[in-house]
Amino acid sequence: MRDEPPLPSVGLMNTHEPTHEAARPGRQTAADPLAVVTGASRGLGRALAGGLARAGWNLVIDARDRDALRDAAQAIRDQAAPGVTVTDVPGNITDPAHRGDLSEAAGNQAALLVSNAGTLGATPLPAMADYPLGEFRDAFEVNVVAPVALAQLFLPRLRENGGAIVTITSDAATEPYGGWGGYGAAKAALEQASAVLAAEETAVRVWRFDPGDLRTDMHQAAFPGEDISDRPLPETVVPAFLRLVAERLPSGRYRAAELPGTAAAAAIR
Ligand SMILES: NC(=O)c1ccc[n+]([C@@H]2O[C@H](COP(=O)([O-])OP(=O)(O)OC[C@H]3O[C@@H](n4cnc5c(N)ncnc54)[C@H](OP(=O)(O)O)[C@@H]3O)[C@@H](O)[C@H]2O)c1
Repeated sequence: MRDEPPLPSVGLMNTHEPTHEAARPGRQTAADPLAVVTGASRGLGRALAGGLARAGWNLVIDARDRDALRDAAQAIRDQAAPGVTVTDVPGNITDPAHRGDLSEAAGNQAALLVSNAGTLGATPLPAMADYPLGEFRDAFEVNVVAPVALAQLFLPRLRENGGAIVTITSDAATEPYGGWGGYGAAKAALEQASAVLAAEETAVRVWRFDPGDLRTDMHQAAFPGEDISDRPLPETVVPAFLRLVAERLPSGRYRAAELPGTAAAAAIR
Protein backbone atom coordinates (compact mmCIF):
# COMPACT_ATOMS: atom_id res chain seq x y z
CA MET A 1 0.00 0.00 0.00
CA ARG A 2 1.39 3.37 -0.93
CA ASP A 3 2.10 6.02 1.69
CA GLU A 4 0.79 8.85 -0.48
CA PRO A 5 -3.00 9.21 -0.86
CA PRO A 6 -4.09 7.70 -4.20
CA LEU A 7 -4.76 10.10 -7.03
CA PRO A 8 -8.06 10.17 -8.87
CA SER A 9 -7.85 7.46 -11.48
CA VAL A 10 -11.29 7.62 -13.06
CA GLY A 11 -10.35 10.02 -15.79
CA LEU A 12 -12.50 11.64 -18.40
CA MET A 13 -11.92 8.86 -20.83
CA ASN A 14 -13.48 5.52 -21.47
CA THR A 15 -10.74 3.23 -20.23
CA HIS A 16 -10.35 0.27 -17.92
CA GLU A 17 -6.78 1.15 -17.07
CA PRO A 18 -5.79 3.33 -14.11
CA THR A 19 -5.10 6.88 -15.27
CA HIS A 20 -2.91 8.27 -12.53
CA GLU A 21 -2.20 11.44 -14.51
CA ALA A 22 -5.80 12.57 -14.15
CA ALA A 23 -6.43 15.55 -11.88
CA ARG A 24 -3.37 15.59 -9.67
CA PRO A 25 -3.94 17.62 -6.50
CA GLY A 26 -3.11 21.25 -7.16
CA ARG A 27 -3.82 21.00 -10.86
CA GLN A 28 -7.62 21.19 -10.91
CA THR A 29 -9.14 22.40 -14.16
CA ALA A 30 -12.66 22.59 -15.54
CA ALA A 31 -12.13 19.09 -16.93
CA ASP A 32 -11.18 17.48 -13.63
CA PRO A 33 -13.29 14.53 -12.49
CA LEU A 34 -15.97 14.96 -9.90
CA ALA A 35 -17.51 12.61 -7.35
CA VAL A 36 -21.04 12.73 -5.97
CA VAL A 37 -21.22 11.41 -2.41
CA THR A 38 -24.62 11.03 -0.76
CA GLY A 39 -24.97 11.25 3.00
CA ALA A 40 -21.69 13.13 3.49
CA SER A 41 -22.58 15.29 6.52
CA ARG A 42 -21.31 12.73 9.05
CA GLY A 43 -20.20 9.15 9.54
CA LEU A 44 -18.84 7.10 6.66
CA GLY A 45 -19.94 9.46 3.89
CA ARG A 46 -18.17 12.38 5.55
CA ALA A 47 -14.98 10.33 5.83
CA LEU A 48 -15.13 9.08 2.22
CA ALA A 49 -15.80 12.58 0.90
CA GLY A 50 -12.87 13.93 2.91
CA GLY A 51 -10.57 11.25 1.54
CA LEU A 52 -11.63 11.97 -2.04
CA ALA A 53 -11.13 15.72 -1.60
CA ARG A 54 -7.65 15.19 -0.15
CA ALA A 55 -6.88 13.03 -3.19
CA GLY A 56 -7.91 15.83 -5.54
CA TRP A 57 -11.51 15.03 -6.44
CA ASN A 58 -14.05 17.79 -6.85
CA LEU A 59 -17.20 16.94 -4.91
CA VAL A 60 -20.96 17.31 -4.86
CA ILE A 61 -22.30 16.14 -1.49
CA ASP A 62 -25.73 15.87 0.10
CA ALA A 63 -27.64 15.15 3.31
CA ARG A 64 -31.04 16.29 4.58
CA ASP A 65 -29.83 18.54 7.43
CA ARG A 66 -28.75 21.71 5.63
CA ASP A 67 -26.66 23.19 8.45
CA ALA A 68 -24.79 19.97 9.22
CA LEU A 69 -24.08 19.53 5.52
CA ARG A 70 -22.79 23.10 5.15
CA ASP A 71 -20.45 22.64 8.13
CA ALA A 72 -19.19 19.31 6.77
CA ALA A 73 -18.59 20.86 3.34
CA GLN A 74 -16.49 23.62 4.88
CA ALA A 75 -14.46 21.14 6.95
CA ILE A 76 -13.85 19.04 3.82
CA ARG A 77 -12.77 22.15 1.85
CA ASP A 78 -10.35 23.11 4.62
CA GLN A 79 -8.50 19.81 4.23
CA ALA A 80 -8.87 19.33 0.47
CA ALA A 81 -6.12 19.37 -2.11
CA PRO A 82 -5.57 22.85 -3.59
CA GLY A 83 -8.23 23.95 -6.06
CA VAL A 84 -10.77 21.28 -5.14
CA THR A 85 -14.40 22.42 -5.19
CA VAL A 86 -17.00 21.09 -2.73
CA THR A 87 -20.64 21.84 -3.53
CA ASP A 88 -23.23 21.04 -0.87
CA VAL A 89 -26.75 20.30 -2.12
CA PRO A 90 -29.12 19.62 0.79
CA GLY A 91 -32.02 17.26 0.21
CA ASN A 92 -33.48 13.78 0.50
CA ILE A 93 -32.27 11.16 -1.98
CA THR A 94 -35.81 9.77 -2.18
CA ASP A 95 -36.94 13.08 -3.75
CA PRO A 96 -36.65 13.06 -7.57
CA ALA A 97 -36.27 16.87 -7.63
CA HIS A 98 -33.33 16.65 -5.24
CA ARG A 99 -31.72 13.95 -7.36
CA GLY A 100 -32.12 16.31 -10.31
CA ASP A 101 -30.39 19.06 -8.31
CA LEU A 102 -27.46 16.71 -7.63
CA SER A 103 -27.22 15.88 -11.31
CA GLU A 104 -27.30 19.55 -12.30
CA ALA A 105 -24.64 20.47 -9.73
CA ALA A 106 -22.36 17.69 -10.94
CA GLY A 107 -22.68 18.56 -14.62
CA ASN A 108 -20.73 16.66 -17.24
CA GLN A 109 -17.69 15.99 -15.04
CA ALA A 110 -19.35 13.31 -12.89
CA ALA A 111 -17.01 10.33 -12.88
CA LEU A 112 -17.88 8.69 -9.55
CA LEU A 113 -21.18 8.14 -7.73
CA VAL A 114 -20.89 7.05 -4.10
CA SER A 115 -24.32 5.90 -2.91
CA ASN A 116 -23.64 6.03 0.80
CA ALA A 117 -26.76 7.61 2.35
CA GLY A 118 -28.86 4.95 4.01
CA THR A 119 -31.27 4.19 6.81
CA LEU A 120 -31.34 1.53 9.50
CA GLY A 121 -35.13 1.30 9.14
CA ALA A 122 -37.33 0.85 12.20
CA THR A 123 -35.66 1.31 15.58
CA PRO A 124 -35.37 -0.32 18.05
CA LEU A 125 -34.67 -3.11 15.56
CA PRO A 126 -37.91 -5.17 15.35
CA ALA A 127 -38.32 -8.87 14.59
CA MET A 128 -39.54 -9.65 11.07
CA ALA A 129 -42.78 -10.98 12.60
CA ASP A 130 -43.55 -7.48 13.88
CA TYR A 131 -41.80 -5.28 11.31
CA PRO A 132 -43.99 -2.22 10.61
CA LEU A 133 -44.61 -2.45 6.89
CA GLY A 134 -44.53 1.30 6.33
CA GLU A 135 -41.00 1.44 7.75
CA PHE A 136 -40.06 -1.67 5.79
CA ARG A 137 -41.14 0.13 2.60
CA ASP A 138 -39.29 3.29 3.66
CA ALA A 139 -36.08 1.31 4.16
CA PHE A 140 -36.38 0.05 0.58
CA GLU A 141 -37.09 3.58 -0.74
CA VAL A 142 -33.92 4.98 0.83
CA ASN A 143 -31.59 1.97 0.59
CA VAL A 144 -32.64 0.52 -2.78
CA VAL A 145 -34.94 2.66 -4.93
CA ALA A 146 -33.06 5.95 -4.48
CA PRO A 147 -29.57 4.49 -5.18
CA VAL A 148 -30.95 2.75 -8.30
CA ALA A 149 -32.59 6.01 -9.41
CA LEU A 150 -29.31 7.87 -8.88
CA ALA A 151 -27.42 5.25 -10.87
CA GLN A 152 -29.92 5.58 -13.74
CA LEU A 153 -29.57 9.37 -13.66
CA PHE A 154 -25.76 9.41 -13.69
CA LEU A 155 -25.06 6.41 -15.94
CA PRO A 156 -24.96 8.32 -19.25
CA ARG A 157 -22.17 10.58 -17.93
CA LEU A 158 -20.41 7.77 -16.08
CA ARG A 159 -20.31 5.77 -19.32
CA GLU A 160 -18.87 8.72 -21.23
CA ASN A 161 -16.32 9.42 -18.50
CA GLY A 162 -15.20 5.83 -17.89
CA GLY A 163 -16.63 6.29 -14.42
CA ALA A 164 -17.69 4.18 -11.47
CA ILE A 165 -20.46 3.61 -8.94
CA VAL A 166 -19.85 2.60 -5.33
CA THR A 167 -22.79 1.31 -3.32
CA ILE A 168 -22.21 0.99 0.40
CA THR A 169 -23.38 -2.35 1.71
CA SER A 170 -23.17 -4.37 4.90
CA ASP A 171 -22.68 -7.90 6.16
CA ALA A 172 -26.36 -7.65 7.18
CA ALA A 173 -27.07 -8.12 3.43
CA THR A 174 -25.64 -11.63 3.56
CA GLU A 175 -25.99 -12.76 7.21
CA PRO A 176 -29.43 -13.27 8.86
CA TYR A 177 -28.91 -11.21 12.03
CA GLY A 178 -32.02 -11.09 14.22
CA GLY A 179 -33.59 -7.62 14.19
CA TRP A 180 -31.78 -6.56 11.03
CA GLY A 181 -34.45 -7.87 8.62
CA GLY A 182 -35.59 -4.54 7.15
CA TYR A 183 -32.11 -3.10 6.74
CA GLY A 184 -30.61 -6.44 5.68
CA ALA A 185 -33.30 -7.22 3.12
CA ALA A 186 -32.93 -3.76 1.59
CA LYS A 187 -29.12 -4.03 1.46
CA ALA A 188 -29.43 -7.49 -0.12
CA ALA A 189 -31.71 -6.04 -2.80
CA LEU A 190 -29.29 -3.16 -3.34
CA GLU A 191 -26.43 -5.62 -3.70
CA GLN A 192 -28.24 -7.69 -6.33
CA ALA A 193 -29.29 -4.58 -8.27
CA SER A 194 -25.66 -3.42 -8.22
CA ALA A 195 -24.34 -6.83 -9.27
CA VAL A 196 -26.72 -6.94 -12.23
CA LEU A 197 -25.73 -3.39 -13.15
CA ALA A 198 -22.09 -4.46 -13.08
CA ALA A 199 -22.86 -7.33 -15.45
CA GLU A 200 -24.68 -5.01 -17.84
CA GLU A 201 -22.41 -1.98 -17.83
CA THR A 202 -19.03 -2.72 -19.37
CA ALA A 203 -17.80 0.90 -19.49
CA VAL A 204 -18.53 1.57 -15.82
CA ARG A 205 -17.11 -0.06 -12.70
CA VAL A 206 -19.75 -0.99 -10.10
CA TRP A 207 -18.37 -1.79 -6.66
CA ARG A 208 -20.24 -2.97 -3.56
CA PHE A 209 -18.20 -1.79 -0.61
CA ASP A 210 -18.75 -3.34 2.84
CA PRO A 211 -16.96 -1.16 5.38
CA GLY A 212 -17.54 -3.44 8.39
CA ASP A 213 -18.85 -2.19 11.74
CA LEU A 214 -18.09 1.49 12.30
CA ARG A 215 -18.49 3.94 15.15
CA THR A 216 -21.27 6.13 13.70
CA ASP A 217 -24.69 7.48 14.63
CA MET A 218 -26.37 4.71 12.63
CA HIS A 219 -24.42 2.00 14.39
CA GLN A 220 -25.20 3.57 17.78
CA ALA A 221 -28.92 3.61 16.87
CA ALA A 222 -28.71 -0.15 16.31
CA PHE A 223 -27.23 -0.63 19.79
CA PRO A 224 -29.02 1.98 21.93
CA GLY A 225 -27.36 2.65 25.25
CA GLU A 226 -24.40 0.36 24.45
CA ASP A 227 -20.79 1.45 24.40
CA ILE A 228 -19.65 1.12 20.75
CA SER A 229 -16.26 2.75 21.30
CA ASP A 230 -14.55 -0.53 20.33
CA ARG A 231 -15.80 -0.12 16.73
CA PRO A 232 -13.32 1.58 14.38
CA LEU A 233 -13.89 5.13 13.20
CA PRO A 234 -15.07 5.57 9.58
CA GLU A 235 -11.72 7.14 8.63
CA THR A 236 -10.06 3.72 9.03
CA VAL A 237 -11.72 2.38 5.86
CA VAL A 238 -10.90 5.38 3.67
CA PRO A 239 -7.59 3.89 2.40
CA ALA A 240 -9.39 0.72 1.25
CA PHE A 241 -12.07 2.79 -0.48
CA LEU A 242 -9.51 5.02 -2.19
CA ARG A 243 -7.64 1.96 -3.36
CA LEU A 244 -10.75 0.66 -5.13
CA VAL A 245 -11.09 3.98 -6.92
CA ALA A 246 -7.43 4.70 -7.67
CA GLU A 247 -6.61 1.20 -8.92
CA ARG A 248 -9.94 0.82 -10.69
CA LEU A 249 -10.30 -2.72 -9.36
CA PRO A 250 -12.76 -5.00 -11.21
CA SER A 251 -16.45 -4.58 -10.48
CA GLY A 252 -17.57 -6.71 -7.55
CA ARG A 253 -18.01 -6.92 -3.78
CA TYR A 254 -15.20 -5.74 -1.53
CA ARG A 255 -14.86 -5.84 2.25
CA ALA A 256 -12.68 -3.04 3.56
CA ALA A 257 -10.94 -5.51 5.88
CA GLU A 258 -9.90 -7.71 2.95
CA LEU A 259 -8.10 -5.04 0.96
CA PRO A 260 -4.54 -5.60 2.20
CA GLY A 261 -2.41 -2.80 3.53
CA THR A 262 -5.32 -0.82 4.94
CA ALA A 263 -5.88 0.18 8.55
CA ALA A 264 -9.05 -1.92 8.65
CA ALA A 265 -7.19 -4.99 7.41
CA ALA A 266 -4.41 -4.42 9.94
CA ALA A 267 -7.00 -4.24 12.73
CA ILE A 268 -8.22 -7.80 12.11
CA ARG A 269 -4.82 -9.43 11.88
N1 LIG B 1 -21.96 2.28 10.62
C1 LIG B 1 -21.78 1.01 10.29
O1 LIG B 1 -21.38 0.18 11.13
C2 LIG B 1 -22.06 0.56 8.87
C3 LIG B 1 -21.72 -0.77 8.52
C4 LIG B 1 -21.98 -1.20 7.23
C5 LIG B 1 -22.56 -0.33 6.32
N2 LIG B 1 -22.90 0.95 6.68
C6 LIG B 1 -23.50 1.81 5.67
O2 LIG B 1 -22.73 2.99 5.55
C7 LIG B 1 -23.56 4.05 5.08
C8 LIG B 1 -23.38 5.25 6.00
O3 LIG B 1 -23.76 4.87 7.31
P1 LIG B 1 -23.30 5.67 8.62
O4 LIG B 1 -23.13 4.65 9.67
O5 LIG B 1 -22.23 6.60 8.27
O6 LIG B 1 -24.67 6.46 8.93
P2 LIG B 1 -24.93 7.89 9.63
O7 LIG B 1 -23.84 8.21 10.58
O8 LIG B 1 -26.32 7.80 10.13
O9 LIG B 1 -24.82 8.93 8.42
C9 LIG B 1 -25.78 8.85 7.38
C10 LIG B 1 -25.59 10.02 6.44
O10 LIG B 1 -26.56 9.92 5.40
C11 LIG B 1 -27.42 11.08 5.43
N3 LIG B 1 -28.76 10.62 5.04
C12 LIG B 1 -29.53 9.71 5.67
N4 LIG B 1 -30.68 9.54 5.00
C13 LIG B 1 -30.63 10.37 3.93
C14 LIG B 1 -31.52 10.63 2.86
N5 LIG B 1 -32.71 10.04 2.77
N6 LIG B 1 -31.14 11.53 1.91
C15 LIG B 1 -29.94 12.14 1.98
N7 LIG B 1 -29.06 11.92 2.97
C16 LIG B 1 -29.40 11.05 3.93
C17 LIG B 1 -27.30 11.62 6.86
O11 LIG B 1 -27.58 13.00 7.00
P3 LIG B 1 -29.11 13.52 7.28
O12 LIG B 1 -29.64 12.70 8.42
O13 LIG B 1 -28.96 14.98 7.59
O14 LIG B 1 -29.85 13.28 6.01
C18 LIG B 1 -25.81 11.38 7.10
O15 LIG B 1 -25.03 12.35 6.44
C19 LIG B 1 -24.99 3.50 5.06
O16 LIG B 1 -25.32 3.09 3.76
C20 LIG B 1 -24.89 2.30 5.99
O17 LIG B 1 -25.88 1.36 5.71
C21 LIG B 1 -22.65 1.42 7.95
